[in-house]
Amino acid sequence: MKIFIDTANRDLIKEWAATGIIDGVTTNPSTLSKEGQNSKEVLLDICRIVKGDVSIEVVEKEPEAVYKQALEIAQLASNVVVKIPFAKEYLPVIARLAHEGIKLNITLIFSPVQVLLVAKLGVTYISPFIGRLEDVGGDGIGLVSDAMHIVHEYDLSSKILAASIRTVDHWNAVMAVGADVVTLPPAVLAESVVHPLTLKGIEKFDQDWLSLGKKNLLS
Ligand code: G3P
Repeated sequence: MKIFIDTANRDLIKEWAATGIIDGVTTNPSTLSKEGQNSKEVLLDICRIVKGDVSIEVVEKEPEAVYKQALEIAQLASNVVVKIPFAKEYLPVIARLAHEGIKLNITLIFSPVQVLLVAKLGVTYISPFIGRLEDVGGDGIGLVSDAMHIVHEYDLSSKILAASIRTVDHWNAVMAVGADVVTLPPAVLAESVVHPLTLKGIEKFDQDWLSLGKKNLLS
């Protein structure tokens, strides 16, 4: 499973990239809006910090403007993936961009049919939103499971990127259904690496070693 970090905050991206576990970054207009006015500089920095795929979302609305902006975004760096929200009027644009070899991440996916449609167009990533579907009483993990089934059943090349992850349990669940990629908010990453029994175990090892009264392990 690939692990992406779901933020546009450069300090947090640097901190987690240093652990070696981060394969990519997803940003969106909401996370970017928290990082100040210079969005281009922020995005270029992120593309330098992380070698893997960095998703950057279009903010234009009209299909032709979305197409043009997607091409501009794609030229920012070699590891850019252009994020486009699902909409019927964007399907021709998505098809054109995918055909031209632009790596795409189709976002705000809430149904199996949406997964099938954009997978057929040959996009690189498809992002079902787990937390937001659960917010309205839907089955977010079921959607990821269905999405994995669809791409395998019909031999489609798109990767399923589980998004809108709110808890470590969400992460465990999307792992269990075999999602190709998960994108994690820094708070979920931070929570995931702490286990009380690991902390307790280290404390016990330290106490036992100190009780021996030796300075060096190997002499
Ligand atoms: O990657 C999409 C994600 O950022 C949305 O998360 O928690 O705002 O639904 P959330």
